[in-house]
Amino acid sequence: MRMAGFAGAMAMLLAACSERPQPAARDFPDPDSAGAKLLTSRCGTCHVAPLPSAHVASGWSAVLHRMQMRMRSRGYPLLAEEEQQVLLEYLQAHAAPVVK
Ligand code: HEC
Repeated sequence: MRMAGFAGAMAMLLAACSERPQPAARDFPDPDSAGAKLLTSRCGTCHVAPLPSAHVASGWSAVLHRMQMRMRSRGYPLLAEEEQQVLLEYLQAHAAPVVK
């Protein structure tokens, strides 16, 4: 899990250095899931889409809430209720492990 996150972060860094501006969908865990598709299609327009391992599971809800406000203030279409739910579950399922 930790190594996958690290490899993913490296892939994101490498992608940032090549002419490809976004990490490919396959760089994200479970790339064919609805959650991964929402993340890459809706969360990579203002900035590069973050990896789920960017936050621990309990942190993602607040980030999503803040991003909805960013989308509203820039006139982006908001995520529907169920899209938010699918995305949150995906992010939490692949979130960074909590260090105890
Ligand atoms: C309308 C533009 C916009 C969209 C679309 C957007 N973001 Fe952001 N995002 C921002 C801005 C601006 C910042 C920097 C300020 C901040 O952190 O609030 C940011 C920062 C972030 C950060 C880094 C800060 C932190 O708290 O870790 C994460 C992670 C993030 N966004 C996730 C997402 C996710 C997930 C989505 C899709 C639901 C998304 N963003 C869609 C504008 C956007």
